[in-house]
This record gives sequence, structure tokens and C-alpha cells, in this order.
Amino acid sequence: MSHRSYIPGDETRLMTIQRYIAQEERMHPEATGEFSTLLRNLALAAKIVSREVRRAGLVNILGRATTTNVSGDDVKKLDVFANAMIINALESGGQLCVMASEENETVIPIPEEFPCGKYAMLFDPLDGSSNIEANVTIGTVFSIFRRVSGGCRGTDEDVVQPGIKQVAAGYIMYGSSTIMVFTTGNGVQGFTLDPTIGSFLLSHENMRIPKKGNIYSVNEGNRLFWDEGFRRYIEYLQASDSTDGRPYKSRYVGSMVADVHRTILYGGIFAYPGDRQNPQGKLRLMYEANPMAFLVEKAGGRATDGSRRILEIVPTDVHQRVPVFLGSFEDVTLAEEFIAGKH
Ligand code: AHG
Ligand code: MN
Ligand code: MN
Repeated sequence: MSHRSYIPGDETRLMTIQRYIAQEERMHPEATGEFSTLLRNLALAAKIVSREVRRAGLVNILGRATTTNVSGDDVKKLDVFANAMIINALESGGQLCVMASEENETVIPIPEEFPCGKYAMLFDPLDGSSNIEANVTIGTVFSIFRRVSGGCRGTDEDVVQPGIKQVAAGYIMYGSSTIMVFTTGNGVQGFTLDPTIGSFLLSHENMRIPKKGNIYSVNEGNRLFWDEGFRRYIEYLQASDSTDGRPYKSRYVGSMVADVHRTILYGGIFAYPGDRQNPQGKLRLMYEANPMAFLVEKAGGRATDGSRRILEIVPTDVHQRVPVFLGSFEDVTLAEEFIAGKH
């Protein structure tokens, strides 16, 4: 009988999010522990949302709610649940000064009865909501900034900061397994939820996006509305040339979390361009583009709006939209060149 599958002292096998954050904090003696508590509370919310997503077909909470969200999209009941659960898990912890959600028109204050803290958090509670009823992968996206307003209760100012100021960002993907991927500024780590013990365990250490891939990911139904440059770029990827991996494969889940996760792992490009109907595209700068851009850059990739680095865009409205091109460094650079009319 072999005992080799258990290696005493092999800590990476049991690296939970808690241990990882505690280890990171030991390297920063000035850390107060506030941030690790915030991530722990977020992981707890993620586990509860994950459980509801897993039970969704059983408990009859699917189906359309009667409301639409502030961006005009249909809201499914699971979105409403995820939104409430995340607010609930985070508002009382004492680490946040204010929150903002894709589902709430105005910023979400921290109620007076709870202590407030030095961070502001923005989130998309359930991304890919059109996929919920089809049992297709969905996710939660989050973005964390340091408070910049004066008082302890935050204001709009705290949630409309440029992406470059993020101190952490990540997503939780409810796919064939549940995985939480985040960065606190050094490297991107992925923790897979082991449902039998209820812990997120380090499964994807220091994720690096390939320099170049052979997959493009875009909603081609909008092709007729695309700008000439982007249309020519996609045609270029579809042309055959065995020396550089063309034709590219096409993959599009329609849940940004899933499409970005695959892009980080396999490389290539994910795009939601602006077009003649929607010049700013569909994705929201603060809830979707910024956190994903932060992750992709920290994994060695690139994220732009076609010409500007997404992280450098100075926001004016917490719900504003932005065209998105992100993924492998070389693929995104080439897309920008086509958009600029260089090819
Ligand atoms: P949400 O469900 O939070 O509204 O976001 C959906 C987004 C994003 O997940 C995805 O990349 C994109 O919408 C898909 O849009 P199309 O259906 O227009 O392709
Ligand atoms: Mn979304
Ligand atoms: Mn959403």
C-alpha cells in the first residue's frame, strides 16, 4: 500500500484563500488584516451564490423577474439573489466605505449601524445572465479600490476611479467547477472550490496568458454593424495560413467571465467592440472591463478599448460602457493595428 499521495509539509496542496492571503500579509507588515477579512467575506458570499446556482434547477427560482436593471437588461431572479447576498455578506464587515453594483442605480451606502472602512467595492453580481436558464457558465466579477473621499462613509468619488487604481480584482466562475480567480496586484491566482470541504484551494498558481493564441471570441451577430477595421481583422483571423496558426477557432459563450477565463488559459482575443448601433459596445467599464483588464494585464496580456489602455480611462459615470479588446499581448496589438487602419 502506498502513502505517497499524502506528502507531509506539502503546503501548496492545502493552500486555501485564507492561508494565501495571510501569507501575503506577512510580507507586508503594515497590513491591518482589513483586506484579508474583505476577501474572506467575499469568498463566503461566493460559496453561497455558488450553492444557489448549483440548486437553481431544483428550487424554482429561475425565470424572469418583472424588473429590468438600470442598464435596461432583463434581470433574472438569480441575479437579484446574488446581488442581495453579496451586499449582505460585505456591508457589515467594517472594511468597506461604499459599494456599487451593476444592478443598483445609485451607489450602495454602508448602513449607519455598521462600521465603515477604507475600501470601495464594485461588482457585477451575476454576469452572463442570459445563460442562466440554459445551465451555461455564469460568474461574479469584482473590483476593489481604496477610499479617496474624506469621510468614512464613501461617495460616488470612491467608485468612479480609473482602473489603474484598483487594489484587487477578480471573478468567481460557476462552471463545471466553481473557481475564484483574483489578483491583489502581484500575479493572478485561481482557487477551485472543493464542495466537500467548503474551501477554495489553490489550483491555478500564477496564471500567465500565452503571448499569442489561436482563438477569437466575439458576437458575430453584430458583424454588419462593426467598423471596417475590426471586420477586416476578423476576416484576417479566418483566412488560412498554417505558418501562423490561422484560421483561428471561434469560441463565444456569451458570459464574459467564461470567455475571459478561457482566454487567460488558452490565449487569443476576446472582444466586445463598439459598433454603429452601440458605439460604446455593451460591457460596463467599472463592473466588467476594469477588473478583467487588471487581471489580464497582471497575467501578462493586454486590454484596450481599441486604442487606449482600459485601465487608464478616467470614468465619469459608474454605469458607463466601453468597447473591450483583451487577451494575448500579440493578438490584441494586431487588433489595434487593424482598427487604426494600419493593415
Ligand atoms: P450581464 O449578464 O451581467 O448583463 O452581462 C452580459 C454580458 C457579458 O457577460 C457577455 O460578454 C455579453 O453580455 C454578451 O453579450 P451579447 O449577448 O450581446 O453577445
Ligand atoms: Mn455582466
Ligand atoms: Mn450582471
